[in-house]
Amino acid sequence: MTANQIVALNGRFIPIEEASVPVLDRGFIFGDGIYEVVPSYGGRLFRWPQHLARLKRSLAKVRIDNPHDDAGWLGLVQELIARHPWPDQFIYLQVTRGVARRDHAFPKGVAPTVFGMASELVPVPAQQREQGVTAVTLPDERWLHCDIKSTSLLGNVLARQAAVDAQALECLMFRDGFLTEGSASNVWMVRHGTMFGPPRDNLILEGIRVRLMDELCQSSAVPLEIRPILREEVLQADELLISSATKEILPVTVLDGRPVGSGRPGPVYQALYKAYQAAKRAV
Ligand code: PDD
Repeated sequence: MTANQIVALNGRFIPIEEASVPVLDRGFIFGDGIYEVVPSYGGRLFRWPQHLARLKRSLAKVRIDNPHDDAGWLGLVQELIARHPWPDQFIYLQVTRGVARRDHAFPKGVAPTVFGMASELVPVPAQQREQGVTAVTLPDERWLHCDIKSTSLLGNVLARQAAVDAQALECLMFRDGFLTEGSASNVWMVRHGTMFGPPRDNLILEGIRVRLMDELCQSSAVPLEIRPILREEVLQADELLISSATKEILPVTVLDGRPVGSGRPGPVYQALYKAYQAAKRAV
């Protein structure tokens, strides 16, 4: 929490210390809500139309009425950015099914709870960019709707903590022997100069950087293949990358205590990271 941080709660802009929701909010009781994380560089939103489209998809998939039209969402997000001094920010948006007597079934006539928060987007430490980060492999024990950006994140939380307990930054998860994603990132594998990503189905969240990566691979002349990826292939990768709104693209150079490829950030990472920075400057 930062001093003078202003958040948006149900249409009001108030200091974060004053923002609270009733204990019967279904987000608190059931994790019954969805969220978004949108980066903004130099006051300009990055890939906003894509983030807004995913927010609307998440709402539709869990059958929460969209509380704002597109202009309303944009106005809310721009107001949050304008109220904070940081050049680079990330905006967290959350919508829950609202406040109602505890009952699993949807309540009738209840307005969703809408929360928005801007935070400083602190760059990834230089050491992580230069040396890469450490990850561990884990079985993916989550539910079958990982495509929904739901606030019910217990599976992701437990997976991330297992990584932290093993002194790693992220985990790479596998379902039935195939790569899915990280606890809060998408995962990519490079072998013999080709980049591979897992299928964009219900078993992963399709990150906004997933489609961006298609473009970056194309502009960097890196061949890209989307197909199921075996754990054994990941263990023999030349490079492994993770992507997310807050980490952009990061190289994983140690997996389960062993070096990935050369053990250093590789040429595909370098090329894609450069292309990512160019895409940021182009907004
Ligand atoms: N997480 N997969 C999962 C499970 C994620 O939580 C995220 C992002 C991604 C990458 O999506 P994107 O490129 O749109 O950031 C993939 C955000 C950053 C979070 O929960 O904080």
